[in-house]
Amino acid sequence: MISRRRGYHGITIASASLTGIPVDHQSFDLPLPGFLHVTAPHYYREGQEGESEEAFSTRLVNEIEALILAEGPQTIAAFFAEPVMGAGGVIVPPQGYWEKLQPVLKKYGIILVADEVICGFGRTGRMFGSQTFDIQPDMMILSKQLSSSYLPISAILMNDMVFEPIADESHAIGAFAHGFTNGGNPTAAAVAIEVLNIMEERDLMAHVSDVSVHFQARLRALGASSTLVGEARGVGLIGALELVTDKATRSSSLQVGQLAKYAFGLLQNKGVIARAMGDTLAFSPPLIITREQVDMIFDGVAEVLAQMEREIGSGQFH
Ligand SMILES: Cc1ncc(COP(=O)(O)O)c(C=O)c1O
Repeated sequence: MISRRRGYHGITIASASLTGIPVDHQSFDLPLPGFLHVTAPHYYREGQEGESEEAFSTRLVNEIEALILAEGPQTIAAFFAEPVMGAGGVIVPPQGYWEKLQPVLKKYGIILVADEVICGFGRTGRMFGSQTFDIQPDMMILSKQLSSSYLPISAILMNDMVFEPIADESHAIGAFAHGFTNGGNPTAAAVAIEVLNIMEERDLMAHVSDVSVHFQARLRALGASSTLVGEARGVGLIGALELVTDKATRSSSLQVGQLAKYAFGLLQNKGVIARAMGDTLAFSPPLIITREQVDMIFDGVAEVLAQMEREIGSGQFH
């Protein structure tokens, strides 16, 4: 299995092995053997001096192809990826990444699994992140907004190339031998169907595609106006601000995570819930958010950043 550093896929023994976040591996004897991780597609942090975004994508895809060849293509089952990385810090793929990567996976017959647990059902502005980034996955993993998490439910979609060998083998051995106790729960399924109906009735995708323009504009404006924002990034209704104390060197003179943790606390006092991931502050509001509520978020963030700039400038921040 190949996945990416900073990817997040869960915490079971296999999904935590796919996950590429050190703290999920440390102390748990993970990843299991056979799980390989490649460079995170984060141009701001991983791009080299003078390298264009396209060239960065080419280098990353070359790295993946070299790994496939070194391991032996017949030994690689699948490539797992979030269309946009969520828990790893909201990483939007660089220009050309998916376009260049997919033919390589196809060439070696490697299944592409799109983990749509965060991206699915509108987060990126289209129904699926795979549509936003023109990805044709062989499998899709769905959860969260499938039921708006009112009841727990997840689903796996697969194409015939994946399904048929599983069906054939299940017939041969007489059972699909990997069901879960709570799989196919009818109550959760009914709630999910109703959530999907409401999404359609309210034309939530149209709302997201409209309001997200304002969300992204306000987010990116902070990237330009605040001396503490190294990178403002996002797509649809997911976004993040990576905080630094020195924009030129893209670094913080404080302990890792201190800036975002402090901002998170100040924001919470204003009634704005963000998520601090290292020094990245992430925003992922409900899809029904209004333009006015987007302003409430980013007015609050602007005030907090201005306060932190003052405190850092006067040496009060420690
Ligand atoms: C992209 C992604 N995949 C998988 C998961 C794991 O889902 P669960 O915790 O329900 O196993 C998460 C959880 O946040 C996620 O963000």
